[in-house]
Formats: sequence, C-alpha cells, structure tokens
Amino acid sequence: MKVLVSDPLSEQGLTILQQHFTVDVNTGLSEEELVEKISEYDALVIRSGTQVTRRVIEAADRMKIIGRAGVGVDNVDVEGATEKGIIVINAPEGNMLSAAEHTIAMMMSLARNIPQANESLKSKKWERKKFMGVEVNGKTLGVIGLGRIGAEVAKRAQGLEMKVLAYDPFVSEERAKEMGVTMRSVQEIAKEADFVTVHTPLTKETRNIIDAEEFDLMKNSTRIINCARGGIINEEALADALNNNKIAGAAVDVFVNEPPFDSPLLDCEKLIVTPHLGASTKEAQVNVAVSVAEEIVSVLTGGNAKNAINIPSVKPELMTMLAPYIQLAETMSNACAQLLGKNYEKIEISYNGDIAEKDTRPVTVAAVKGMLEVALGSAVNYVNATSLAKSRQVEVVERKSDTTEEFSSTIKVEVTMGDEKAAIAGTIIGGKGKIINVNGEHVDMIPSGYLIVAKHINKPNVIGPCCMVLGKNNINISGMQVGRAEIGGTTIMALNVDSEVPEPILKEMRAVEGIIDAKLIKL
Ligand code: NAD
Ligand code: MLT
Repeated sequence: MKVLVSDPLSEQGLTILQQHFTVDVNTGLSEEELVEKISEYDALVIRSGTQVTRRVIEAADRMKIIGRAGVGVDNVDVEGATEKGIIVINAPEGNMLSAAEHTIAMMMSLARNIPQANESLKSKKWERKKFMGVEVNGKTLGVIGLGRIGAEVAKRAQGLEMKVLAYDPFVSEERAKEMGVTMRSVQEIAKEADFVTVHTPLTKETRNIIDAEEFDLMKNSTRIINCARGGIINEEALADALNNNKIAGAAVDVFVNEPPFDSPLLDCEKLIVTPHLGASTKEAQVNVAVSVAEEIVSVLTGGNAKNAINIPSVKPELMTMLAPYIQLAETMSNACAQLLGKNYEKIEISYNGDIAEKDTRPVTVAAVKGMLEVALGSAVNYVNATSLAKSRQVEVVERKSDTTEEFSSTIKVEVTMGDEKAAIAGTIIGGKGKIINVNGEHVDMIPSGYLIVAKHINKPNVIGPCCMVLGKNNINISGMQVGRAEIGGTTIMALNVDSEVPEPILKEMRAVEGIIDAKLIKL
C-alpha cells in the first residue's frame, strides 16, 4: 500500500506510517500535479495546505482514506469523498489546547499592544503613551462556538477572572452552566462583550456570523479575535470597523485566502496577525500526526476509524457488541432486496429489546449497504451507503422499541416498493446471527449459503414435487421450514440448498401446481 503525505507532517507520524507502508512525502503540489499522481495512492495525509478538490477525488481511484492532521476539513470535498467511498478522518483533539492557548496569547497581545510596541522599540522608538493597554481582569469575553477549543478558551478566560458569555445553538443551557458560562445571542454578545472570540467551523451558517451589523452593535472599546477559520468574521466589515474606529482592535490567525497578501486587513494599524499558527506547537503537531497515522494504519489493515467525518463512529467496546448485528442486518436487507427483486423506495430497520438502547447507527448503515449492494455491487460501502440511498431517494427509517417477545434483542428489516414489501427478522444467539421470520412466517435459519423462498398455497402435493425438482437436478436440500397457514391459505417454504440453483430449475419449481413464486437468495 502507498501513502502520500502532501503537507509537512511530524517525524513521529511519518515513522508510524513507514513501518507499514511505502510513504512518499511530496509537499506543495498544485491541483494539477495532485490529480496526476493521486491514482497511485491508497491514503493521503494532509494539513490545511493541500486542497483536496472534487477533481483530485475523482482521480483517486485507489484511495481508501484521507487523513487530516488537524481539525478543519474545509479543504477537503467531503461530499465527493463520501460519494466515492473514501473515509475522511481528522485529529480533533490533538491541537485544541494549542489553539486555545494561541487565542489567549492573541487576546493578551491585543489588550497590551505587544506586537506594535515590540515593532516600535525595535525601530528605536520609546512610545510609552501610544501603547496604553487595558486589563482583561473583570472584563466580558464573548465566545461564539463553545466546542472543544471554545470551551478551553472559556476555562482559561475564567482563570483570568473574566466573565464569559457564549453563543452556540448546539450546546445546552445546562452544559453552559456547568462551564460557568452564560448563553446569549450573537447580537447580545456584540453589545455586551469587551472581547469577542470565534471558535466555530466555517459553514454556510457561520460564514460572516460577525458582519457589519454586529460591528455596529459593538462598543468602541471592543476587541475581536479569530483563531478559527477565515470568513467567520467578514474581512471587509472588519477592515471597515477597524479603520473607522468602530472597535478598538482585532487579532487574526486565519484568513479567507492564505497567505492573505492581498487582504485589506494587513494595512490596518489596529490589527495584529499571525500566519495560521494556532496549532503550530511541537506538542500539537506530534499529537495530530500520530493520531492520523495510527488511524490510517488501523483502517488500511482492516480495523475501524475512530475519528471518521463521514461514517458513524462509535466506541470500540460498543463496536464489538454491535459487530454480529451489523453482519446480520446487512445479510437480511440484502436478502430483502433480492426477495423484492426490483427497485425500492424505503427501508425500515426496527430494533427491539436491549439492542434498541444502543447507538445503532452503524447497524442501520450496514442494512442500507446490504440493500443497495444488490443493485450497485461493490460501488456501495459503509462510507457512501447513506448518501447513495439519499441520492436514489430511498427513505431510511429507524424504529426502536424496548419490548420483544421471545428473544432479548431482535432486528427486523423491511424493504418496500409501493404495495410490495419484503421483511426479514433476526436475532443474535451466542454471538451468531439467526433468521427468525421471513415475510411474517416464523422460521429458524442460519443466515448463510443459498436459500429458496417459495410462496405457495397450503395444500397437499406442493412441497413434495418441489423437492423432487431439486432432487432430480442433483441439488441437495440441507434444511427446510414451512410456514403455518389454513388449508388453502398462502404461506412460504424456505429451503436451504447446498449450491446455486439455475433459473431454469427455479422455473420448473414455479410450474408446480400451487406454487405462486420461487426465488433464490444468496445470504
Ligand atoms: P468543535 O467542533 O469542537 O466546536 C465547534 C463548535 O461550534 C461546536 O460546539 C458547534 O456546536 C459550534 N457551532 C457550529 N455551528 C455553529 C453556529 N452556527 N453558531 C455557533 N456555534 C456553532 O471544533 P473545535 O475543535 O473547537 O474547532 C473550532 C475551530 O477552530 C474550527 O474552525 C477549527 O478548524 C479551528 N481550528 C483552528 C486552528 C488554528 O490553527 N487556528 C487550530 C485548530 C482548530
Ligand atoms: C486545524 O484545523 O487543525 C488547524 O487549522 C491547524 C492546522 O492544521 O494548521
């Protein structure tokens, strides 16, 4: 296997990769060069420099995983990677403390004009009056985005005896309270805070979350910091606010275009800047490189991805417990799609009993994958199954109930097209899957090998002739289950057979008087 490292990566991360794979370090590639080379590689490791565009992804025919040694994946076309079945991972925790410390360093530098004073004295000026600062003690800090880094910044600001307000629609009042933080709207923060710092990802909701209207609400003494992503604060509005003394200063580590040599911001006297240094500490770089390298080794050698952006990630202990359910759900949904034998518009996965209390997302993904595989073959995998179902307008429904009748946990998969449906239920006994119901009929089957499901009228002389058809064609029946129904009613027989059954033999079975349909399923 070959790994391309296209941005600088710490030695420790490289060593881990080199112990398992051929590793090429080739930094500073243009999009064109990357498109040309990428088809040779099974994995790509990047930081924020490499732009993994749709063109790059389309050319990445062997690629299985893209590892971002850092948090933000805004330089990766994650949707494109998902469609192509490529796992995207990041290292969400490795640099959070460095980024939080950089934010505090920027805030203190802003408060005391340290960069400007440093520059002045080094040019042989002694300007003590010009660089009068402010204390942060007792001041209010507004944090937009109270995630990993935002929370660390809030904690450190409280250590500096600041009052902390925050805006984050995904953090509850209770959680904020536990952190000693008061939740407010962006506008309230703009009005009240002495310092404002942003720590959200860059999304369509957060782009320009601080814009001209918010600057208009701020006090002239307010100072603002962006150590998250360029574009969260509108750069033109910020330049305007600084140049027109609407605010007292700004500290910026990240820019819409990096390096930002054409940005109007660089001419603002009240602005202090660093060249995207938030994660640039020895500790953070080792942490993120090791985390991404270990995860790439795990995925390329058949293990799990802990920090995947585009597949549900669950704790390893839970994954062990879910593994047989994942296999069972995939087999059952695949069998349902085969039974239905046509397109489908909906898949419903019902979890009953103990399993309903678990995080069943990977089981649902496996069920969707199993169903789609009948039509799409190896083009579908755990990464792209959900997005493929969505693009094919297949509705995915999960149901949960804590009650079951016979078993402690059961899963039922139902695949529907209009009025027609196929439904199979199963359970896990002693770590192994078992099918317990097919289309409403109780059965007891091991989900492996070949199975003939024959719908028929419950009357004499149907089952025997069917078995004769198989026998005379030298097909061994290894198991048989027949559903209960009134005489003359419709039921199913499920025949486990030892080999594939060619279509002409199935046709012969369907010709038996009383047989409504007979289908072969590969479990
Ligand atoms: P995180 O996912 O832990 O936290 C982000 C928070 O933003 C979450 O709590 C989320 O609920 C919140 N959020 C999402 N949408 C929001 C919205 N519309 N309004 C308000 N809040 C919203 O991420 P993190 O690890 O704390 O990283 C935060 C940012 O810092 C990211 O943009 C990341 O790329 C950046 N970062 C920069 C550097 C650097 O070198 N400067 C280093 C590390 C991380
Ligand atoms: C990140 O998102 O982790 C940061 O931008 C740091 C980086 O990789 O440079």
